[in-house]
Amino acid sequence: MTKTLFSGIQPSGTLTIGNYLGAMKHFPPLQDEYNSFFCIVDQHAITVPQDRLKLRDQTRSLAAMYLACGIDPEKSTLFIQSEVPAHAELAWMLQCVATVGELERMTQFKDKSEGKESVTAGLFTYPPLMAADILLYGTDIVPVGDDQKQHLELTRNLAERFNKRYNDIFTVPDVKIQGVGARVMSLQNPTKKMSKSDDNHKATIFLLDEPKQIEKKIKSAVTDSEGIIEYDKENKPGISNLLNIYASFTDQSIEDIVKSYEGKGYGDFKGDLAQIVKERITDIQERYYNYYESEELDEVLDRGRDQADFVASKMLKKAKKAMGLGRVHLKR
Ligand code: TYM
Repeated sequence: MTKTLFSGIQPSGTLTIGNYLGAMKHFPPLQDEYNSFFCIVDQHAITVPQDRLKLRDQTRSLAAMYLACGIDPEKSTLFIQSEVPAHAELAWMLQCVATVGELERMTQFKDKSEGKESVTAGLFTYPPLMAADILLYGTDIVPVGDDQKQHLELTRNLAERFNKRYNDIFTVPDVKIQGVGARVMSLQNPTKKMSKSDDNHKATIFLLDEPKQIEKKIKSAVTDSEGIIEYDKENKPGISNLLNIYASFTDQSIEDIVKSYEGKGYGDFKGDLAQIVKERITDIQERYYNYYESEELDEVLDRGRDQADFVASKMLKKAKKAMGLGRVHLKR
């Protein structure tokens, strides 16, 4: 039987090459093999403050980006999380299975709440919503970047606990983390993950950046004073991150790339990398702008919503019954 895949991306800003190399790039080939669901997780985005007009625009933008990067709506289901109510409903039920202790151990929550005077309760209960996304579809695999590993571990635990405590209805999903691009680092501080929300715009390459901006950002990426191109994550995190990006965009091994730059300096390397990234991104952008403006995009999302709702409602019904929600019907 065809196995099921689920993955999600937050519409919390323009996608970065981290999102692309860690997740999006790997989706199109997988949709031939799996019954695939790709979600725009707008309910996850509101765990931190968002401007409502911007959020709606970013949701449309992300849908267009999925298509521009190769998601084929004839093969996959593309939909918006808040348009399928089962996600929020199951999330509540899973909050009643998760414990405060295990949610407190989530490093993403710790990072995002660190130093803040107050954070929303939604930021804290974000992982059970993510678990609901995945479990509603009987998902077998979840392709994500390295930073989502802990959330996936929690999803597996919640599924196992629910199955044992109530009824064996959920598939326990496997995480699929792809090699080289799984953790793209900031261009300005290569010991920190590249993120949509970095205050320093030079640290992040966005998929909608202009070619000139891309070139500037790569050329000013932090490296070291040695000038030797080699992969050493501990001692040379800057050049190692750039090698990673090079390898993921070209599907070449890091070893081969290092060999081909023997005797050359960072300037040559950065110039070539800028060219590679610009070419790939320009290609995506051309398709993106066409989709963003099209009516086809709305048709795809309407169809996606209906398909997702059909599958998710059935699983939600089973989960409610297993937990004892709703009333008993008397036999008359
Ligand atoms: P989000 O929106 O932060 O990121 C989307 C995807 O991009 C990956 N990613 C990265 N990969 C490599 N290097 C980076 N610097 C980098 N930054 C982000 C993420 O790992 C992710 O795969 N909680 C999820 C969204 C979500 C989800 C789901 C994912 C909600 N429900 C169900 C899978 C299944 C998130 O915040 O991703």
